[in-house]
Amino acid sequence: MTYLGVDYYPEHWPEEMIDEDINGIIELGANIVRIGEFAWHLMESEEGSFDFSYFDKVIAKLKERGLDVMFGTPTATFPAWLAHKEPGILSEDEHNHPRVFGGRRQYCFNSDAYRKYAARITRKLVEHYKDEEAIVSWQIDNEFGHEGSDMCYCDQCHHKFQGYLAEKYTDIQTLNEEWGTIFWGQTYNDFSEIPIPKPTITTHNPSLKLEWSRFRSDSLNGFAHEMTNIVKEIKGGHQTVTTNVSGGVFDKWFDHAENLRPMDFVSYDNYPVWGGLEKPIPPEAIAMTHDFNRGLLNKNYWIVEELMGAQGHDVIGYLPRPEQAKMWSYQAFAHGCSNMLYFRWRGMTKGAEQFCYGVVDHDNVYGRKYKEVQSLFGEMKNHTELLNSEITSDIAVLYDYDNIWSWRSQIQSKDFDFNEELLRLYRPFYQLNTNIDVIPADRDLDTYKVVVVPVMQVMDEAFADRLRSFANQGGTVIFSFRTGLKGKDNNLRLGEVLPGLVRDMVGARVEEIESLTSDHNLSLQGEGGFSDIPAQVSVWRDLLVAEEAEVLYRYQDYFYKDYAAVTQNTFGEGEVYYVGGGLSESALDKIAQDVVQRHDIDFIESVQDVEAYRRRVGDTSYLFLMNHSDQEKAFQSVDLKPYESKIIKE
Ligand code: GLA
Ligand code: ZN
Repeated sequence: MTYLGVDYYPEHWPEEMIDEDINGIIELGANIVRIGEFAWHLMESEEGSFDFSYFDKVIAKLKERGLDVMFGTPTATFPAWLAHKEPGILSEDEHNHPRVFGGRRQYCFNSDAYRKYAARITRKLVEHYKDEEAIVSWQIDNEFGHEGSDMCYCDQCHHKFQGYLAEKYTDIQTLNEEWGTIFWGQTYNDFSEIPIPKPTITTHNPSLKLEWSRFRSDSLNGFAHEMTNIVKEIKGGHQTVTTNVSGGVFDKWFDHAENLRPMDFVSYDNYPVWGGLEKPIPPEAIAMTHDFNRGLLNKNYWIVEELMGAQGHDVIGYLPRPEQAKMWSYQAFAHGCSNMLYFRWRGMTKGAEQFCYGVVDHDNVYGRKYKEVQSLFGEMKNHTELLNSEITSDIAVLYDYDNIWSWRSQIQSKDFDFNEELLRLYRPFYQLNTNIDVIPADRDLDTYKVVVVPVMQVMDEAFADRLRSFANQGGTVIFSFRTGLKGKDNNLRLGEVLPGLVRDMVGARVEEIESLTSDHNLSLQGEGGFSDIPAQVSVWRDLLVAEEAEVLYRYQDYFYKDYAAVTQNTFGEGEVYYVGGGLSESALDKIAQDVVQRHDIDFIESVQDVEAYRRRVGDTSYLFLMNHSDQEKAFQSVDLKPYESKIIKE
């Protein structure tokens, strides 16, 4: 069965509206609602007095009408009485300012007090509903780490960070040595002297910054797993457990794959546009987030918050055009979403999300958006087998949070953005409508033909060896700039010629480097098959000297016209590309075409702005078609109206 539903907050409305709402939700074609997240005070209005009677009534009504329930544990929004009694639960910003009560997720993951109260409400809630047959799944908290909640600089965190270091480094001399604290006379005599990277004059030690990032991840994931383990210990056998991943996955201070490890499945909140954006994020950026979420547990996932109305807190922006939000839903299903709930049933008239428009607006009229969701549900409910079919990819795009955090703490080029650099190499394969996995770098690579490794500056020998054997055995590896610059200590290697650890497979060396800006475009001269494809680099350039590699592009500016910008090297049975800068799309498109053809990878030619995604059920193959434009398009013999989406059998 495919679950199709809405996020429903009955407690936001007069009780007499619930029957009418349930009728409307049923009419929509829904068979599930998500309730309960943020409702801690309703369940524990005073310390220790637990009362689930309100949700008992709600669940009875939902059940009577055949609706199943995903229940959110309410720890993202603690009651005011708790903040009043235990101010130490409040997280702090880098200026020692506690985040005051009034928003959400302002708790500190390292607050023992918070963990105690959060564990108790979670335990009481699940004990109360573990046998409730209508509750089929538990969502842990809400969007861990979102809206800046992954960072806290309070004394509890500082103290626990020192403990984390003492455990990891055993003795302070080892830490001093590895961190290079001799620099600027920062040698520590004891772990208790080590700061957390609050504002200082100039900047902190790079090793400290990376360890702090890892500690943040451990803190958030430690809290998440403590709550998850409580739910798993108590929940009914018919109930699953998940948590909902928010957008901006590479801008967070926690390892998402580790966060999701104990969950039964990944849930994702898909907002192609949010807040004051004047237009949605590009189609390939939306697609990449789906491939990322599918990659977390290497299986299809749920969307528990799909955008239908314009969304924002104090500022809203672009209004999704008719059929556009439905098209984004098709895109999600194409990339592996198997069950979907829209955020939210009706936009709330009060509170901080008055401008998070829902399926139904404040006028309570079942209008265009209601009908759009109704049609989507009607079309998808019969595709359960297709939506649950496995997606296999020949191409993997690798990321690693140590590497991402290393870049975030020292961006080197003022316009460097990790998301953009990953998308730079993802986009050309997306444009060919190939299947792409976006996965952690430590995953097994054996089933892939192509491995894309965007700006992987932090690299260890083990990873380099895995890539070496992958290429040796016939794989294609595509590196981009600053590859192998640093070790896992976030420091450079004395005597190591770049690209570090993989110079042999790249077949070229980096002699000098230059940080560019996003609008500092340097023209390149193509060679061989690239001689008639104009190209530029921006953001960064590595000045390469080809050793065994073939030069695909050279720089043209006076001092550097003998240096290579892009190289290709035959290595063993395979090949290695090195893209030594922020290379323009034209050149990357050609590389992607060459690679896809060389490996005979399944791809689909389409027209601009039409995304096609192939899925298979047994011997039958289907195409999901999404028109991402406001123009009429034709895909082969299929006409697509503006923002139209459809599934065709091949
Ligand atoms: C996030 C949160 C929801 C809500 C929406 C509003 O995804 O999960 O609670 O705040 O944004 O768009
Ligand atoms: Zn803290």
